[in-house]
Amino acid sequence: MSDSGNFISIKALEDGVNVIGLTRGSNTKFHHSEKLDKGEVMIAQFTEHTSAVKIRGKASILTSHGEVTSDSKK
Ligand code: TRP
Repeated sequence: MSDSGNFISIKALEDGVNVIGLTRGSNTKFHHSEKLDKGEVMIAQFTEHTSAVKIRGKASILTSHGEVTSDSKK
């Protein structure tokens, strides 16, 4: 599967934001975790291995569906 045009960007709005990749297929599991500090940006794609992304912490997330902001727990 190739989805080379479709990126999402995640910008951390606080230290310690976690970007967690979840596997594609019948068994949905965490397979990758990336920690971003405030101001850091990660640009990622959905791939044959990754069907969903979970973001913990305050971040600005831009996708082709628009922009959303996640919040921190505190
Ligand atoms: N090896 C993973 C993959 O190809 C890397 C990856 C792609 C990833 N998109 C991601 C990891 C999003 C975390 C979040 O699927």
